[in-house]
Amino acid sequence: MIPVITVDGPSGSGKGTIAQRVAQSLGWHFLDSGAIYRALGLYAEQQGVGSEEVDALAALARTMPLNFRQDEVLLDGKEISALIRTEAVGNAASKVAAIPEVREALLEWQREFARAPGLVADGRDMGTVVFPNAEVKIFLTASPEERALRRYKQLKEKGLSANLAGLTVEIRERDERDCNRAVAPLKAAFDALELDSTEMDVDAVYASVMARVRSRLPGL
Ligand code: DC
Repeated sequence: MIPVITVDGPSGSGKGTIAQRVAQSLGWHFLDSGAIYRALGLYAEQQGVGSEEVDALAALARTMPLNFRQDEVLLDGKEISALIRTEAVGNAASKVAAIPEVREALLEWQREFARAPGLVADGRDMGTVVFPNAEVKIFLTASPEERALRRYKQLKEKGLSANLAGLTVEIRERDERDCNRAVAPLKAAFDALELDSTEMDVDAVYASVMARVRSRLPGL
């Protein structure tokens, strides 16, 4: 059995940063499942497939020419890492992610990322649906205001335009959609460690996560 650590939570909770750091320090593989949904949102737009075309979207999910190479995300051989980080693509991702057939089509593929020596998987349903038997499950949250502020700073750092009030509204709308969808809604697994990072810095969150990892996987 390949050990798996899941890190779930809403956008802007810091789960990506934490999951990546944990993967790096353990020398484990990393799955950014949000990037898959983001790439699909982008791909559907490029292919002219609307968010209501369920069968066509599921077919795209099954055949999407997506690859991960170190820090790069490649769609049909083209680097899309920066392109999929925009709020527009995030919203498109959240819409396609609400479709059960799309989630089903992506399930086995995501599970194949579990390879030796281990996997850290970042997403919304990693601990509840994709890897329900994961050894360590983390659910990371933060207030919507704090998450909007973090996203605002991230976008500014990348030299992209950003509007804090608009981001707060978008984050609330996306939370609403991700939490209330019928399939694999954003929620903590019953056996997850829930951490609210609103008042914590990255180092403090990382320390709490690693303490949990070491208590669950004492051999590490
Ligand atoms: O984590 P992120 O912001 O990159 O995710 C983008 C969207 O993809 C998010 O709004 C919800 C969806 N998503 C999902 O439904 N399930 C996942 N495991 C990961 C992301």
